Amino acid sequence: MTTTIQVNDTLIKELEETARAMVAPGKGILAADESNPTIKKRFDTINVESTEENRRFYREMLFTTPGIEDHISGVILFDETLRQSAENGTPFSKILSDKGIIPGIKVDKGLTTIPNTMDETVTQGLDGLSERLDEYRALGARFAKWRAVIQIGTHQPSQLSLALNAHSLARYAAICQSKGIVPIIEPEILINGSHTLERCERAAQVTLDRVFEELILQRVVLEGMILKPSMVTPGDKCPEQVDPKIVAQSTIKIFKRSVPAAVPGIAFLSGGQSSKLATLHLNAMNKDKHLPWELSFSYGRALQEDCLAAWKGERANKGMAQKVLFHRAKCNGAARFGEYSSEIENQ
Ligand code: 13P
Repeated sequence: MTTTIQVNDTLIKELEETARAMVAPGKGILAADESNPTIKKRFDTINVESTEENRRFYREMLFTTPGIEDHISGVILFDETLRQSAENGTPFSKILSDKGIIPGIKVDKGLTTIPNTMDETVTQGLDGLSERLDEYRALGARFAKWRAVIQIGTHQPSQLSLALNAHSLARYAAICQSKGIVPIIEPEILINGSHTLERCERAAQVTLDRVFEELILQRVVLEGMILKPSMVTPGDKCPEQVDPKIVAQSTIKIFKRSVPAAVPGIAFLSGGQSSKLATLHLNAMNKDKHLPWELSFSYGRALQEDCLAAWKGERANKGMAQKVLFHRAKCNGAARFGEYSSEIENQ
């Protein structure tokens, strides 16, 4: 006997509603899904030991920030965090959903090198994904994230890297949707390198074209997904850096060519940009009032960096660190409307 796994109409409706809520106007996503090795790196910058309790305390501080729900629609969690609770015993997923913030979960298992390439990578985690999603949904998650990494270099990205990463992103997305989980599809083009803006435009174009070709082939419901890409920028070591207006123009030009209007929203990653620059770029893009999709944020470092620095691992700094996080979220909330300004930044 054969069984058919199909995304039915009720599920599609739920996926579409969740996806639209994730990119609600004036709001964006907080990426707090650092794996344990990554959060250790972040804690090292403020000399805080990465113990399970310190990670729990830090995430509780983020999620209970007063008013954060005004500017944050969803939070991406790491496996450990989705299983943790606040000091008063309430699970984090409930703390978030009680505030109207949608809990999400990082489901990829990191990168592995692709044989026969110059150290290009593909993302692992498809084996057992379906069963893991059942558990994550029961724990309260309504969306997921999978990060693929594309690098620009000599003969890079290769056709092989583009094909494998597009294929696994689409496999992941189709599996998520069959479980009623909205997939965040993250093909991150690394900012590292001396490449020009034009080089990044070409890499973004081929990457997005390959990703959408696979998504359509694998029958992913475009209305029930969110794209999480890098902005189109020169490499961080390129001598010719450009104005946020140019970044906005290039990004919108490439995305209009490759991202179907059926996709409800594009939530950019910050990828190593400073907090303020990430806000300025988003703001510049949202000055354009004729876009087919919501242009939002799903920042990790650009939302958390200032807050981490204010916290310094001291309980006494909790209130101040929360104010700093709220401020960053508010600035990005204003950038969702193209209304960010130095007055808002300096309030
Ligand atoms: P950054 O905004 O720090 O790039 O993190 C976003 C993210 O989720 C990367 O996978």
